[in-house]
Amino acid sequence: MSLKINSFEEYQSKYKQSIEKPDAFWDKIAKSFQWQKDYDKVCEWNFEEPNVKWFLGGKLNITENVLDRHLEKRGNKLALIWEPNDPKDPFKRYTYRELYEKVCEFANALKNQGIQKGDRVVLYMPMVPELAIACLACARIGAIHSVVFAGFSAVAMADRINDAQAKMVITADGLNRGSKQVPLKRVVDEALENCNSVEKVIVYNCLGWEPNMQEGRDLWWRDATDGMSKNCPAEQMDSEDILFILYTSGSTGKPKGVVHTHGGYMVYTAYSFQNVFQYEESDVYWCTADIGWITGHSYIVYGPLLSGATTLMFEGVPTYPDAGRFWQVCDKHSVNQFYTAPTAIRALMACGDEHVLSYSLDSLKVLGTVGEPINEEAWKWYYLHVGKEKCPIVDTWWQTETGGIMISGLGSHSPMKETYAGYPLPGINAVLLDQDGNEIEENEVEGYLCIKHPWPSIIRTTYGDHERCRLTYFSTYKGYYFTGDGAKRAANGMYRIIGRVDDVINVSGHRFGTAEIEDAINSNRLAVESAVVGYPHEVKGQGIYAYVVCEEMPSDEDFARGEIVESVVKQIGKIAKPEKIQFVSGLPKTRSGKIMRRILRKIAEGEADKLGDTSTLLDPDVVEDIVKGAIK
Ligand code: PRX
Repeated sequence: MSLKINSFEEYQSKYKQSIEKPDAFWDKIAKSFQWQKDYDKVCEWNFEEPNVKWFLGGKLNITENVLDRHLEKRGNKLALIWEPNDPKDPFKRYTYRELYEKVCEFANALKNQGIQKGDRVVLYMPMVPELAIACLACARIGAIHSVVFAGFSAVAMADRINDAQAKMVITADGLNRGSKQVPLKRVVDEALENCNSVEKVIVYNCLGWEPNMQEGRDLWWRDATDGMSKNCPAEQMDSEDILFILYTSGSTGKPKGVVHTHGGYMVYTAYSFQNVFQYEESDVYWCTADIGWITGHSYIVYGPLLSGATTLMFEGVPTYPDAGRFWQVCDKHSVNQFYTAPTAIRALMACGDEHVLSYSLDSLKVLGTVGEPINEEAWKWYYLHVGKEKCPIVDTWWQTETGGIMISGLGSHSPMKETYAGYPLPGINAVLLDQDGNEIEENEVEGYLCIKHPWPSIIRTTYGDHERCRLTYFSTYKGYYFTGDGAKRAANGMYRIIGRVDDVINVSGHRFGTAEIEDAINSNRLAVESAVVGYPHEVKGQGIYAYVVCEEMPSDEDFARGEIVESVVKQIGKIAKPEKIQFVSGLPKTRSGKIMRRILRKIAEGEADKLGDTSTLLDPDVVEDIVKGAIK
């Protein structure tokens, strides 16, 4: 079943084959999975509509590949280790057989509550095993899961529930996050005041609280599973049936539901997991992401479990009870592959080396990063203090829309250079385009990062709005998938991701559209208009800087700032709080009314002396005022 590439030479030859004969390349990989009925055709596609289909005619259920097919050889192998928020609490472990039984039991509970193939189920959960179990249980019966990160507000959740027309919500009383406990069921109740599609809410009791339970609608997880069989036949799915929807931000106000499907997502997440992390049979692998984001979907749940790996899931945060928590968990469970975000590395680096130096970290073999560019200083600290100069760092570039890792090193088999993600995986035809959409063939260049041929886990559509998918990803450059990122290609062909070239801000590896935050700010009664930009932030990568125009300049700025922040928290969640809010008399606009964000970005970056040409502005005086009042 191994899909692994074992040397750089093998990488190079596989890469070549994959570009020359993509169907043959993917066919060989896909054949190693368990299909209920073989597919008739590997791929059919055009990027105009777009219409992309993989493994056409194939019938399968991804959970048979995640669970059933491992039972014979790996029934007693650990599938999942769960480490709680508080190190004093006991951890939990599930073998493949135990996980199979839990998933089947909950799948039967879902069916018993009226969930059928194709129904949408929203999950708003803590990082507990039940979250992974619920995802897999949905997939088992052909229901479509849509996980909403538990930091989103009631308004944001209601938007997602309504967009997906979800029939059920699965949640918990609340969650542990470091020293805090955060209510979840209360937020769900608030969201559901504005949702008509939800018939049932299943509540997992995580904190022992007694939340409001609405008669006829809400039931406890333990009651839902009581007496359910631990076997549940897997629903037969078409390769192209939807596995899940995951909402992500774009450059317009409304988050979009990225759709992934059973067949292609299965093949790509397993293939990329095994190659990037070079997982070996007895290894323990740990990805610190939250399952509310794509990284958790692909590289805590599906990729590792499809590969028969032991995957570790962590409930807590990196700094509780102290900044050594990650390293303590690595030693405690003898973690071999460790995958985290640059923002976490920077935050821990700032807490002092002593927290990492007191752990042996002997078991580590491969380190990974994801979500944003990693700066040189953080890379070096990670390499030196965590990897002890013996572990390769795989800097993995990818997106919610790509489903899996696209550009990255493959364990120790690839050349490595700090701040460079590296080479595209075999099967990923990455190119750089210039302003006019022409491919740049040479090296030592910068351009717009695009992909020329589909890969199995490419986004299929944006749920309920295919045109939006076409416009966002396939219309900028005809015949290419446009990533929204700019990149540099070095002399040796390695890629370095520079960052977004659209109106998307990446805060601590979380994506927000500037329009989405502006809409939230403008919902406040004080604000007339606003413009949001990102600025370099030492720990978060980017911070959010908001320029706000009010009817009258607020007399108490701190009070007004508090109000604006409150609106953002209410509309989106605490994760989208602007760090800096500057009240301004007007925004720099062109004569056609377009906000000149370039100027606002420069001011936020503290480079007001490099504003460039402002002569096309409607009212150049506005800029002078903004520069004077800029927040350092
Ligand atoms: O700008 C890139 C950045 O994160 C964006 C995708 O965000 P999201 O869909 O939330 O997925 C994050 C986790 C896969 C990309 O367009 N990004 C992701 N990984 C990297 C990165 N930027 C630089 N280096 C990376 N390794």
